[in-house]
Amino acid sequence: MDLSATLAGVHFANCVMNAAGALCVTRDELEALGRSRSGAIVTKSMTPAFRDGNPSPRYHSFPGGSINSMGLPNLGSPTYAVLIPGLRQFGKPVMASIAGLEPADFLDVAHVITEVRPDLIEVNLSCPNIPGKPQIGYDVEASRSLLQRLNGVITVPMGVKLPPYFDPAHHEAMADMLREIGVAFVSVINSVGNGLVVDPERECTVIKPKGGFGGLGGSMIKPVALANVRAFWKLFDGRVPIIGTGGIVSGMDVFEHGLCGASAVQIGTVLVDEGVGVFERLERELGEVLARKGYRSFAECRGRLREL
Ligand code: DHB
Repeated sequence: MDLSATLAGVHFANCVMNAAGALCVTRDELEALGRSRSGAIVTKSMTPAFRDGNPSPRYHSFPGGSINSMGLPNLGSPTYAVLIPGLRQFGKPVMASIAGLEPADFLDVAHVITEVRPDLIEVNLSCPNIPGKPQIGYDVEASRSLLQRLNGVITVPMGVKLPPYFDPAHHEAMADMLREIGVAFVSVINSVGNGLVVDPERECTVIKPKGGFGGLGGSMIKPVALANVRAFWKLFDGRVPIIGTGGIVSGMDVFEHGLCGASAVQIGTVLVDEGVGVFERLERELGEVLARKGYRSFAECRGRLREL
């Protein structure tokens, strides 16, 4: 079965890769992704300098999903700039996720990372976990201004990682702006920001930062993710490739993302729960689903969701 994907001119032997943030902070983690069946190596969202992140506990998984408030722990862009050339040995695309607390941070990181030419850059407009810093992706004009400036710096295919939107007017406003900018791909969705998980036995929050508020991931967010993939697929008429992220636990979930319009997918919570062996399982399960349904490739099912 052909599970490959081509996105912004970059070929992925396997359409399933890690989501930024999941097991991709350190050199060891990035190399383990390189040796795994992940279709790409996606880095943790990086800032201009090393960050320890928020106090622990800051990640908690439970039967329906996960909640996190990591606070952008990362090695800093100068260190990733040293690591990225070495990651090429694994023969798969390297995607650098860039972030910042201020627009100037994104530009600083973009300058440093463009130099080492990752295959793609994913601009993270949607980190929900920095106290006092709203998610840029919820402000169309702030996103436009930042992406315009990044467009002048980044010379590899530049995509955006967006937060979930819950109203068609927001999908439309964002899609109009992204069309004007000419982004190479869209990754949807980042975690559902600022949820709250409660431990009723201990009568407390399950994570420490921000009074227990954090980004939700895992199976509970799949319908929100599929709606965002579908909304952007339709608004872009299938002309801007979409990376579907959110709620993938099985090969069938990958198939659902494909039907809604995803060209490739990313996994976060399930990767943290299962480790890099999960890529092999998903590959097997997705291959079985596609074969049973008479498809010859993952690409063939893309966008084919029937609307009743
Ligand atoms: C973090 C979480 C996110 O969802 C994100 O997009 C970036 C960073 C974090 O807390 O580290």
